[in-house]
Amino acid sequence: MSRLDYRMVDKQGRRMRKLRISLLDACNLRCLYCMPERPTFMPQKDWASTKDLIRITRNLVTLGIEEVRLTGGEPLLRRDFMEIAHELSALPVKKLGLTTNALLLAPHLQLLLHSKLQHLNISLDSLDAENFCRITRRDGFNTVMDAIYTAKEFGFSVKVNAVMMKGVNDHELSAFVKWSATHDIPVRFLEVMNIGVMKSQFRERFLSASDMMAMLRADYQFNALNDTPDSTSRNFHVSNGAKIGFITSESNPFCTGCSRLRLTPKGQIRPCLFMEEGIDLKSLASADYPAALAAIIAMKPTGRIPHQPQPMYQIGG
Ligand code: 5AD
Ligand code: SF4
Repeated sequence: MSRLDYRMVDKQGRRMRKLRISLLDACNLRCLYCMPERPTFMPQKDWASTKDLIRITRNLVTLGIEEVRLTGGEPLLRRDFMEIAHELSALPVKKLGLTTNALLLAPHLQLLLHSKLQHLNISLDSLDAENFCRITRRDGFNTVMDAIYTAKEFGFSVKVNAVMMKGVNDHELSAFVKWSATHDIPVRFLEVMNIGVMKSQFRERFLSASDMMAMLRADYQFNALNDTPDSTSRNFHVSNGAKIGFITSESNPFCTGCSRLRLTPKGQIRPCLFMEEGIDLKSLASADYPAALAAIIAMKPTGRIPHQPQPMYQIGG
């Protein structure tokens, strides 16, 4: 193992391979489980600049990061989004992905086709226009659905992420499984996390992956796939042809195999979604990156930290 690789491995032998970059905290939806009705977002001047983002990511890729995912808030709200996507495409990354609510996706697809950014995770919590509106507190269902189908037609790798909540969208579980088979789009069901605005309604709304499975077993059989150790979801082929997965952030956190680092909108690197501590990389000389990374990796927890004071949209879903 090279000296540089060694820096990316923690005491448990976990090698850091993935970077999630939260480009901003703002969003054009107001999902019930994520944001209050009137959130306060950080001033735009606090966002790391295009130049800083590219330099930071280039350094991290040189040190061993293989996969980069852009997230938010809603990453497509940044005016320099395409510039960022193109600059990142020039880096030697194995995989470049985007997590988006897809409201602004359609106009970007043609341009993205010629970039390395081919992996789209689209947040969609309902297949019903009215329920979509109730959950996101905004209109836009048809725009999102059209963008999903266009992206799929264009040949992007498209996955849908659905945060499931009792009494909100759990009656749509089976519809999602049917939809996945019909459109050949994998759907991943997320357990809602006890974080930010969810804290006050968590007990009432939480639905575990095993409860979801139990609800689906009446209609379907499942074939478990062999997931990689750092996979965030437990994945299955379903008897109707659907591909589904469960992200069990609450009932069975995936910390032991975690290979991720996070970059906040301000350009701070963090060891974990659940930690506020981090190191500002904007002003750091490239020569100091290995030491900073070693410090960050040493801070990585081995199991789920119970408390995260910051809401999800500020740290990147
Ligand atoms: N629980 C689970 N996922 C959440 N997200 C935001 N808040 C929560 C929460 N409380 C995720 C959603 C969305 C991404 C941006 O953040 O999956 O797709
Ligand atoms: Fe926006 Fe995603 Fe939060 Fe919904 S969950 S408000 S789409 S950041």
